[in-house]
Amino acid sequence: MYFGGDYNPEQWPEDVWLEDVRLMREAKVNLATVGVFSWARLEPSEGVYDFGWLDRVMDLLHDNDIQVNLATPTASPPPWFGLSHPDAMPVRADGTRLTHGSRDTYCVNAPAYRVASRRIATALAERYGAHPATAMWHVHNEYGTTCHCDHCATAFRAWLRDRHKSLDALNDAWTTAFWSQHYSAWEQIMPPRTTQYRSNPAHLLDYRRFCSDALLAHYREQRDILRVHGRQPVTTNYVMAGWTPLDHWKWSAEVDLVGIDHYTDEPGDGGLAQVAFASDLARSWARGKPWLLMEQGVAAMYVPDGTLPLEPGEHTRRSLEYVARGATGVLHFQWRASQGGAEQWHQGMVPHAGADSRVFREIADLGRTLSALPPAERAEAEVAILWDDEAAWALRNPALPVTGLDFRASVEQTHRVLWQQGLATDFVHPSHDISRYRAVLMPSLYLISDEAVANLTAYVEGGGTLIVSYFSGVADPDTRVRLGGYPGALRDLLGVRVEEFRPLTGPVALSDGTVGTFWSETVQLTGATAAVTYVGGGPAVTRHQVGAGSAWYVSTQLDASGLANVLAQAGV
Ligand code: GLA
Ligand code: ZN
Repeated sequence: MYFGGDYNPEQWPEDVWLEDVRLMREAKVNLATVGVFSWARLEPSEGVYDFGWLDRVMDLLHDNDIQVNLATPTASPPPWFGLSHPDAMPVRADGTRLTHGSRDTYCVNAPAYRVASRRIATALAERYGAHPATAMWHVHNEYGTTCHCDHCATAFRAWLRDRHKSLDALNDAWTTAFWSQHYSAWEQIMPPRTTQYRSNPAHLLDYRRFCSDALLAHYREQRDILRVHGRQPVTTNYVMAGWTPLDHWKWSAEVDLVGIDHYTDEPGDGGLAQVAFASDLARSWARGKPWLLMEQGVAAMYVPDGTLPLEPGEHTRRSLEYVARGATGVLHFQWRASQGGAEQWHQGMVPHAGADSRVFREIADLGRTLSALPPAERAEAEVAILWDDEAAWALRNPALPVTGLDFRASVEQTHRVLWQQGLATDFVHPSHDISRYRAVLMPSLYLISDEAVANLTAYVEGGGTLIVSYFSGVADPDTRVRLGGYPGALRDLLGVRVEEFRPLTGPVALSDGTVGTFWSETVQLTGATAAVTYVGGGPAVTRHQVGAGSAWYVSTQLDASGLANVLAQAGV
């Protein structure tokens, strides 16, 4: 069981390092993530290295039995880099080129950035690949930065040629017949830069897919360099927020263990539900490999107005919940709260007050508790929720029937109801083998492929219970609406047909005594039966017997008790 956090000794004089390791030992810290933002100190000018300080840090940690999760520092290029390679600074959709002075300022498709990334990764791998403290490699930090520059344009066109093969196919997939967008040469295609009015949703979606692959190529390049010089597991840390263009299923197949950074924004039980959600996602993405909580906040959380202290014991409770859901370690950002810099108010395991503090005492207790935990037995979840990053991105299309359709929010809300019911839950991709689950839930999965529909149909025919919520299966993988009535690809499986959506402005009463909000539909039964009806008339929730299983359709936004009723009726 790993315990520790990001350790940034370059922010402190060396006498503080001695106190750091003494306190780490006291708190039973056994893993420190080092070097995440150290590029400027490691390579003070192009091709000139200064490893002396890191040698001393690595040796000091090793002498104190603390292992190192050694980072490649490519998330934050030094000032000299941007000044000598201005073309490698990222460009916003509106054409503004960004400058150094913060972090994550690079274009992942710029040749100079790739060269510099490989160079520093190689230098680190050569020097520390065999160091006894190096236990793990932490490539980059929180991949997700996007850019719209000319390098990206060139790389995007190559990616599009690979995906669509011909311009005709691309024009068709993107429905460029609309608004005179027909492309007659590949060079006419741009990254989705700021346009006069709405952008093409298929263009936006393909750009997110492309960004995920481009970032992954950068990760793989470093991973392969690190593997030449060391045998340690290689990973990176995912941001558990909705904005990153990362296809987590694809990425998780490329990392040796899944690492997540997770910051909650609710106190009390809400925060615990968020911990459960993030943990279940990480464990599911890992598909049997280990997963690690790479960062969490200590005694503070993000809330709309800033950060708030947690109640005494709350941090411990949350940390144990990550572990109970499979985490092989609990790490934090960061070891010692910074005195200055952009995150000087982010709490540390050692806060500004120092070790004589409630926060550090709780950290030290937590470290001792974790070090004494017996190995856990693994319980298998019997229920799963579908997770598909592409479907999530597609719902970020700015031109949907109503605003507020949000895949991640729907999934999280569904997960929370299952959590409240005490049902252990996994996440699965619609193309995975899901036959071992008693029930699978599909909240607002807008995009779906024909192959996924066939997979889900076979699952239901084989005895599974599938519960589909509104605005699922409506579009194909190129965001084109599936014609003939909603919910498009799922009509036959669900035994329903919908001609019109009826978004709601207020609650509607349902026959089971609960209410629907946000969304409703006029549902025609084409094989299904009504399980719950709108009090004003018409089916709200339907059930369709298919083979040995059943497929349910929920045509409105249920509250927690409404969904709990459906789960009970469906025997989940
Ligand atoms: C992220 C980053 C850290 C730090 C924390 C603070 O997770 O990886 O470097 O910025 O957020 O919230
Ligand atoms: Zn770029």
